[in-house]
Amino acid sequence: MCGIVGCIGIEKPQKYLIEGLKELEYRGYDSAGIAIIDNKEIKVIKAVGKLKNLERKLDQVKFENPKLGIGHTRWATHGKPTEINAHPHTGQFSAVVHNGIIENYQEIKKFLEEKNINFVSQTDTEVIVKLFEYFCNGDPFEAFKKTIEKIDGAYAILLITKKEPDKIFFAKKGSPLIVAKNSKGIYFASSDAPLIGYAKQAHYLEDGEYGYVTENEIHIFQKNLMISPEFKDLPTDKESAKKGGFRFYMEKEIYEQFDILKETILGRNTEDGIKFDEVDKSFFNGINNIIISACGTSYHAGLVGKYLIERNAKIRVDVEVASELRYRNPLLTKDTLFIVISQSGETADTLETLKMAKEAGLKTLALCNVDNSSIVRVADKTILLRAGIEKGVASTKAFATQVMTLWMLSNYLGDINEYEAINSAIEATKVDTALHEKIKRLSKRYLHGHGFFFIGRDIFFPLALEGALKLKEISYIHAEGYPAGEMKHGPIALADPELFVVALLSKNILYEKTKSNIEELVARDATVLTISSEFIEMTDDFVKIKNSNHPMIEFFEMMVITQLLALEVAVRMGNDVDMPRNLAKSVTVE
Ligand code: F6R
Repeated sequence: MCGIVGCIGIEKPQKYLIEGLKELEYRGYDSAGIAIIDNKEIKVIKAVGKLKNLERKLDQVKFENPKLGIGHTRWATHGKPTEINAHPHTGQFSAVVHNGIIENYQEIKKFLEEKNINFVSQTDTEVIVKLFEYFCNGDPFEAFKKTIEKIDGAYAILLITKKEPDKIFFAKKGSPLIVAKNSKGIYFASSDAPLIGYAKQAHYLEDGEYGYVTENEIHIFQKNLMISPEFKDLPTDKESAKKGGFRFYMEKEIYEQFDILKETILGRNTEDGIKFDEVDKSFFNGINNIIISACGTSYHAGLVGKYLIERNAKIRVDVEVASELRYRNPLLTKDTLFIVISQSGETADTLETLKMAKEAGLKTLALCNVDNSSIVRVADKTILLRAGIEKGVASTKAFATQVMTLWMLSNYLGDINEYEAINSAIEATKVDTALHEKIKRLSKRYLHGHGFFFIGRDIFFPLALEGALKLKEISYIHAEGYPAGEMKHGPIALADPELFVVALLSKNILYEKTKSNIEELVARDATVLTISSEFIEMTDDFVKIKNSNHPMIEFFEMMVITQLLALEVAVRMGNDVDMPRNLAKSVTVE
């Protein structure tokens, strides 16, 4: 998601800030900005779009004696990608950059507005700097401490102020922040990559740590007590640092799902039910049907959405492959809500179906990961997925956020509350390294054979389709997803020891029936790997998931396992997991 950098004590801080932001480009951004203290003045430069735009503007600015600075690349979550919404956010005498989400920003904003403090942006971040200035009548560090005491949520914060132009204040909770030092000065970054080449060692701030730095000193506190930082060696390879130490972006993105999904539900999954800032309940008035249009993985998410929306909201849903829908002159009635799902927001077929629906006068809603993309610009309303940039061509975390958003939408439309289950489902995506090791070992048994079937029932059927797609995309092995109950109507003819079956066996949905389907395949000597919380002895391999009483919790845990399996098979085949042959990340042609 967003990235932050900061530095103090070096000549031309703007150089490190821009270079650092470039190193964070891989995380994706839609705007960027820096703030520098120069002759006790704060100079703020921001630009929408590419970092080049920011660099061009920076070239026009004359600095006399720049002392320190902070910088930020933003991926819009609250508010559109505009210059006003870009960081750093400023008050009368201070500037702040922030990663994460301030959950109680509305409350703080209201409190400050009542004190006649004005806001210019639509972001949650602006409250930090405004609250700081509200408290700042004496010691700025005291004001900073009071500020972080008042804010809830996740944050990595860097704040500078004219009141003390030789310090950077910082705080970390839930979002990464690293501080490093060399003989010249002190540097901050939200991930390793910007720091490599500047410092050899760094302190990875822990949650709850805050403090300030001067030109040559780092002061870190935890609950009002000063602590001595523990410095660790920084990696030396930038490319691997960008992958967070993982072998592939796809692997990093699989592990990231646990954190990303928390962003997806932030401010939306509340104890009182689902809330979407982007859409109002009245938008859905008069809707009797839903059509979901999407391609590939996004289409599979749409299929999960059909099960969930029909079950939870009792609204009929048709899910369509966009390239088919586009040319078949479909019946589009005005009581139908047209939903498009897209990670990139640029998929040509999906976009064309959206235009077609708009022309037919339907209400349109996009579930999309890229704000300002073509699809977002055309749709009446958009709910952003908040997955951050997805680098791996094979979609993983975007799929997770699509399914999560559809699940929340089904709650919203059906006025039901699955608050706890949604939180638990996110917990289920946390990758257990022992489990990953097991899948690595298992994968060696699945490299030959004449193909794979992934089978499941209900919501586990689209997950089977997605599991098969992931495997074939990166391993180039033939794989199909099938409804478990449909195997006996033909495909079971292929069963022999060289046919590999991945069975998604839910304890909560049609357990006995799916188990019988597995038995049928075992009886015909297929090689079967079962994923379930219920141990079944008859299959060749078994991966255990946690026992839970909600199918969506099982769904998210199984999703991670199928993604890891595809990854490990592809790694063993020696394939380039992040860039599979013949595929592109964004399909802007028919
Ligand atoms: C598969 C994959 C593709 C995309 C499809 C639609 O891993 O990524 O199948 O899901 O090309 O792309 P978006 O979601 O960008 O519209």
